[in-house]
Amino acid sequence: MKKTKFKGSVILNPVPVVMVTSRSSEGKDNVFTVAWAGTVCTTPPMLSISIRPERLSYEYIKETMQFTINLPHRRLTKETDYCGVRSGRQLDKIKEMGFTMVEGTHIDVPYIDECPVSIECKVKSIVPLGTHDLFIAEVMGSHIDSKLLDENGKLCLEKGNLINYCHGEYYPMAKDAIGKFGFSVAKNKPEIKNISNVEKKSESQRGKSEKKKPSKKAKKSLKSGKKKNKK
Ligand SMILES: Cc1cc2nc3c(=O)[nH]c(=O)nc-3n(C[C@H](O)[C@H](O)[C@H](O)COP(=O)(O)O)c2cc1C
Repeated sequence: MKKTKFKGSVILNPVPVVMVTSRSSEGKDNVFTVAWAGTVCTTPPMLSISIRPERLSYEYIKETMQFTINLPHRRLTKETDYCGVRSGRQLDKIKEMGFTMVEGTHIDVPYIDECPVSIECKVKSIVPLGTHDLFIAEVMGSHIDSKLLDENGKLCLEKGNLINYCHGEYYPMAKDAIGKFGFSVAKNKPEIKNISNVEKKSESQRGKSEKKKPSKKAKKSLKSGKKKNKK
């Protein structure tokens, strides 16, 4: 692999892209788009979002120390982008987008009903970093489209048609897994049906790219071999 030195920006990609809802202490609701979001702890369940202090959402969240993360369905890609390029200072984005807001159950912040997953959070600490402040929050509970749960109650997020964000562009999440946790060391064959196809495909591709062009010497001996065979 030929590598090129690249400038020192954060190119950790792809990342989730989410719509964050908040409510001010005066009861005004807002939504904005966040890509700098991450899982930071299993127990207690915690996540983080990074927010620039100039955002209206920054003010609301700092006031109440609560917010809800809404994972957008791919048909909400345009809405997700819009909520990230317009501020609630200028207009009511929730009204503009026609979102159905449902009151939260663990916090006093509504969630977007059209999003298949909404995660209610309470801020535990705020760490100023530079352009952004890091909001570290505990997950208090979530609301999930019941279609994403199978008959055993297993969460099947791949059915959610979620989107992610990669270097300035939105992408749909693939439905077919190409592996699962621990499959590389599993004794039994992986149950995921596409694994074998994907592996076969990538192996055959690797085979093709690894086929070297014959050297001049090899070509010459090939030719003379052919001639000999003709005789
Ligand atoms: C794809 C995308 C990702 C974004 N990620 C962040 C982010 O992680 N943190 C942030 O402060 N702003 C982020 N923004 C910008 C805000 O969403 C944007 O400034 C928004 O208008 C703020 O709205 P508000 O003033 O109503 O809070 C992002 C915008 C887009 C389009």
